Amino acid sequence: MQSTEKIAEVRQIIQKAREKGRKIALVPTMGYLHEGHVALVAEAKKAEAMVVMSIFVNPLQFGPNEDYERYPRDLERDARMAEAAGVDLLFHPKAKAMYPEAMLATVQVGVMENVLCGGSRPGHFRGVATVVSKLFHIVQPDLAFFGLKDYQQYRILKKMVMDLNFPIEVIGVPTVREVDGLAKSSRNVYLSPKERAEAVVLYQSLGEAAAAIRDGQKDPRKIEKLIRSRVDETSGRLDYVEVRAASDLTNVEWIDRSVVIAVAVYFSSTRLIDNLVVQA
Ligand code: PAF
Repeated sequence: MQSTEKIAEVRQIIQKAREKGRKIALVPTMGYLHEGHVALVAEAKKAEAMVVMSIFVNPLQFGPNEDYERYPRDLERDARMAEAAGVDLLFHPKAKAMYPEAMLATVQVGVMENVLCGGSRPGHFRGVATVVSKLFHIVQPDLAFFGLKDYQQYRILKKMVMDLNFPIEVIGVPTVREVDGLAKSSRNVYLSPKERAEAVVLYQSLGEAAAAIRDGQKDPRKIEKLIRSRVDETSGRLDYVEVRAASDLTNVEWIDRSVVIAVAVYFSSTRLIDNLVVQA
């Protein structure tokens, strides 16, 4: 596996691969890798492309009171895991290289940014769309892989790629879960043992809500209420639970199309998210 923090070096390596006719697949991450990231790489490898993984904890997508400073980082361990997973090129730029000066040009994806996680994390998706655009310009991949745990991020990036004519296929990869169903996340390490045990409520309540829809419940407010009452039984604090159209995240008054049930819960200061897409 090749590894570099230099943008110019990435461009050279990619150019050589392109000259040999290779396709490029990008797996953007913020590091502290887990099986969810390994699954992204496994999907990328199926494309028989050169697999590039970026590791960059992007300051632009963290709010002033969020966990940018304490976000878990371990580049050596990540490099070992990336190599074992089959990554060909690891790109781990420093913040100074990605943002040598204050950014004036940023990428916004309209109303999709301000709902769900965007409501609680103003500016978050502008930071995500901006850094992913930069990574797309640096790596120029044919394919890019994102986990569906961050469903809103996946939808926003798909829309961005379409609206701005990036010649890139954005591929969503199913959420990888712990044995009890908790979605794998780099932030799970923050949970106390009690919180870790309780955190399964996200997955369990989503499952109950999806079953209710399949049994004929059409009222999104009743689905949201079901999840709220399950979370209230734990020490978790609900940030939001919403049923929205799976295709474009618009509001739904009645469940008559594919929907995403999305939930965010705080355990102490750790914010966990999860979702399920349900076909009506
Ligand atoms: O999902 C993530 O890890 C990040 O939001 C991403 C896509 C790497 C952008 O920083």
